[in-house]
Amino acid sequence: MQNLDRCLNIWDLRAAARRRLPKGVFEFVDRATEDHIAVANNRSAFERIKLRHRALVDVSQRSVATTLFGKPVGLPMAIAPTGSAGLCWHEGELELAKAAAKARIPLTLSTASMTAMEKIAQHGGPDKGGRLWFQLYVWKQRELSHQLIERANRNGFEALIVTVDSPVSPNREYNTHNGFGLPFTPTPRFVLDVLRHPVWAKDVLLKYYTTTGLPRHENYPPEYQQSILSGVGSRDALRADSLDWNDIARFRDIWPGILMIKGVNRPDDAVKAIEYGLDGIVVSNHGGRNMDSSAAPIDLLADIAEAVNNRATVILDSGVRRGSDIAKALALGAKAVLTGRATLYGTAVGGEAGALRAISLIRNEFDKTMAYTGCRSVDELSPDIFFGYRSGNRLSGMTAGAV
Ligand SMILES: Cc1cc2nc3c(=O)[nH]c(=O)nc-3n(C[C@H](O)[C@H](O)[C@H](O)COP(=O)(O)O)c2cc1C
Repeated sequence: MQNLDRCLNIWDLRAAARRRLPKGVFEFVDRATEDHIAVANNRSAFERIKLRHRALVDVSQRSVATTLFGKPVGLPMAIAPTGSAGLCWHEGELELAKAAAKARIPLTLSTASMTAMEKIAQHGGPDKGGRLWFQLYVWKQRELSHQLIERANRNGFEALIVTVDSPVSPNREYNTHNGFGLPFTPTPRFVLDVLRHPVWAKDVLLKYYTTTGLPRHENYPPEYQQSILSGVGSRDALRADSLDWNDIARFRDIWPGILMIKGVNRPDDAVKAIEYGLDGIVVSNHGGRNMDSSAAPIDLLADIAEAVNNRATVILDSGVRRGSDIAKALALGAKAVLTGRATLYGTAVGGEAGALRAISLIRNEFDKTMAYTGCRSVDELSPDIFFGYRSGNRLSGMTAGAV
């Protein structure tokens, strides 16, 4: 395992992950879609926002802890659903779940994860101090999705997050160039790639191969696993592009817990979500992985939070790499952020310990940002911390250099 102490920020973890993972796997995690405009803009949108420090405030008693859906969290953050933690590390989702439990933040398990939800619930669920959320991709055959929802409920998942920004599969051309596909196909290029990364081949691939077989989507219905394994069912053939608000109403009927949608970009969609009885929305562009012309969620957040007006919990993701990003998101109206790649890099480098390293690096940076801006609790974060913000000015005006 890498010396985690030498990774001093998320970029160091990213560099270490790049060395450890086969190129096909690393790029699947790290890259996005088409010309990579959205993923770059997610970062630059955060970087454009400037803060002012406040002098002479006693911040010696500050705390980054808060609550999320009425329960305590160690910091205003949760782990985003990613279908690939299990490629970064053997049963990586479980490693992430254990790290999240230790950091006292929720873990969202993806429909596309490589570890079955039963195992996550058993080893990383409430009995082990964890909080579990389940992310749903909706199948064309709706009854299979309803069965998946019931399964998540039986396994004690506290929240259901329906991803609503992925009606079609994105153009990720680099996967084809790398000969990379899921389930793994032994293309000459990918086989060579794996052979060049013997540690990953032994610790991840071989471990699956000698126990449960090649990594597969363990939460998919068995009939879909079969069709995917035989190469018949493509993603677009199975997943619904017909998802609409009627589905959301149905999910609200059958899901008794916290219900959110992920991938909201518009205030009118956010308001509609409240009308449909949802408890939360995730403002997200899927980490820039879907529509390359999408706006940065941090630029959309102020308008959406204003429209929601505290009637639901607003969460933001896409581009979070530094603790200061959390401060910016909270000051613009989010209650918490999700991290996708940041915690995946950590998982790739050191499993549970690596994921925990990523969380604690971000936590420490967030703590310092709070201290610099004179905030003793997360509730004190407000637009007052921004440079260039005046009441009534939208953030887009501010980032364009106005005021
Ligand atoms: C490798 C990878 C796999 C992902 N898989 C899923 C998924 O299965 N379901 C989902 O809703 N979002 C998925 N996402 C998107 C994340 O949930 C999240 O929106 C995004 O990663 C946030 O951006 P960030 O990576 O810049 O933090 C995935 C992201 C990555 C990087």
